[in-house]
Amino acid sequence: MAQRRETKAIRIQTSRTAEMEHSTPLFLTSSFMYNSAEEMASAFADDTLDINIYSRFSNPTVDEFVIKMCALEGAEDGVATGTGMAAIFATFMTFLSKGDHIISASAVFGSTHTILTKYLPKWGIEHSYFNMNNPESIEALIKPNTKMLYLESPSNPGLDIIDIAFVSSICKKHNILFVIDNCFATPAAQQPIQYGADLVLHSATKFIDGQGRVLGGVIVGRKDFIQPLYLFIRNTGPSMSPFNAWVLTKSLETLFIRMDKHADNALKLANALQNDPKVNHVKYPFLESHPRYHIAKKQMSNGGGLITFELKGGLASGVKFLNALHMISVTNNLGDSRSIASHPASTTHSKLSEEERQEVGITPGLIRISVGLEHSDDILEDIEQALVKC
Ligand SMILES: Cc1ncc(COP(=O)(O)O)c(C=O)c1O
Repeated sequence: MAQRRETKAIRIQTSRTAEMEHSTPLFLTSSFMYNSAEEMASAFADDTLDINIYSRFSNPTVDEFVIKMCALEGAEDGVATGTGMAAIFATFMTFLSKGDHIISASAVFGSTHTILTKYLPKWGIEHSYFNMNNPESIEALIKPNTKMLYLESPSNPGLDIIDIAFVSSICKKHNILFVIDNCFATPAAQQPIQYGADLVLHSATKFIDGQGRVLGGVIVGRKDFIQPLYLFIRNTGPSMSPFNAWVLTKSLETLFIRMDKHADNALKLANALQNDPKVNHVKYPFLESHPRYHIAKKQMSNGGGLITFELKGGLASGVKFLNALHMISVTNNLGDSRSIASHPASTTHSKLSEEERQEVGITPGLIRISVGLEHSDDILEDIEQALVKC
């Protein structure tokens, strides 16, 4: 009987050992043994063999995490990395060469922007940005050397949404690799491969862990795309640690119920804040006022756990607001069971110029809330009392 994804997130497990453990074991080992010199020699002879050699190459706990992520995203194969940035960088390095061109949404995570603008040019790889709110502009940016299109939907922190199927049709027409960072939605709310993405990657540090404990990344997609990525990671070393994989695979058991609750709390909060006199506008993919509400509804099963709002008083109000919070944590992470408030302009996106921030909607008074799993009234009450003071 084919299991549903919610069940697979719980039931996929490394083959049970002779100890008959119920919960998944942790294979905290750097290397693996052979019964003979010949067996060892044959393990090294073929890079495609499914044999554990060394945990930089593969590890049963890491494999369990990857197999679950493939099942959740509807992907053939995958590979894990030490962080989300390692997943992004490995993807760029594997598929882009000197003289190539990448088209990226301008609204991407700050460090991704830094790779595109500071590091890729060092290796002769050029980029063009497009505005998430103008997908029609993409086709004009395509050049003969364009190899990859990259975006986040919803984006960090602006929560911009793009029609994934529309972008995929452009990429297919021009034979361009389409890569999506699905970190904000998670596969519980959105499966980009279903809409035509070639590769889906994650910062597993966020909702996949869900409790702010470990760093991790993962890339999933077609087997023939994953094999060169796997070899790049195996040889250059940004592999996931087995301990982190163990934490993450346990976390996946609760991903679906957590994401439902994050989204439920976020929608309640977004609705409540819409009428607050201190707030200019609230953005959340499942609010009807979101400019791409209908697309969000088409490709996401819930609106995710992030909301943003713009304080009328700008930067000064933003600082007062953060300082007035009692319960909500002031920190830069997201996707935690604890609600978190952050100020993108002075933190995650501070490396962007003022102009670049404006272009992606990061205004001085923009507050991002990663809505946690606390009682929704407690989250709202903390925000309301802080708004009174700013
Ligand atoms: C959308 C997005 N992608 C990638 C990353 C980078 O992930 P990591 O911090 O795990 O390297 C982040 C981190 O905040 C993110 O928000």
